[in-house]
Amino acid sequence: MIGDIATREDCERLVRAFYERAFQDDRLGPVFVDIARLDLDAHVPRITSFWETVLLGARSYGGGAFVPHYELDQQVPLTSELFNRWVALWTMTVDQMFAGPVADDAKRRAELVAGAFAKRLAELRS
Ligand code: HEM
Repeated sequence: MIGDIATREDCERLVRAFYERAFQDDRLGPVFVDIARLDLDAHVPRITSFWETVLLGARSYGGGAFVPHYELDQQVPLTSELFNRWVALWTMTVDQMFAGPVADDAKRRAELVAGAFAKRLAELRS
């Protein structure tokens, strides 16, 4: 039986598995690889801290998560379709690795953040 997300290490494993999938994805891959040129080694600790803070109540993440997406949106429109794909891959990855209330929260929070980012970007574009 698979367990729930319980530690920072769990968050990191989840984040790494997600990016592995996202980098290979037809739609999201080019955004991460060609446009953002995401440096995973630099990025993983920050995004792990984000999830550790959101899901486990740690205070390891500070700062605004929105701004890098606003900057990226200037180069390639981060459409709702792209955010939906992000959420679909995240949900698949969570389901494959974890089960329980925190895993459910991880899926719900991703959907909420994606919806909020997409809405704010659309407003800023218009
Ligand atoms: C279309 C969907 C998305 C794309 C293409 C995307 C891409 C990126 C990129 C390229 C960065 C790194 C920016 C940089 O530091 O140079 C980043 C940072 C980040 N993303 Fe996303 N992202 C997406 C959706 C999301 C969603 C839905 C969440 C949350 C649920 C999220 C959470 C974060 C966080 C926490 C950071 C780190 C910000 C920081 O450095 O403090 N992203 N994203």
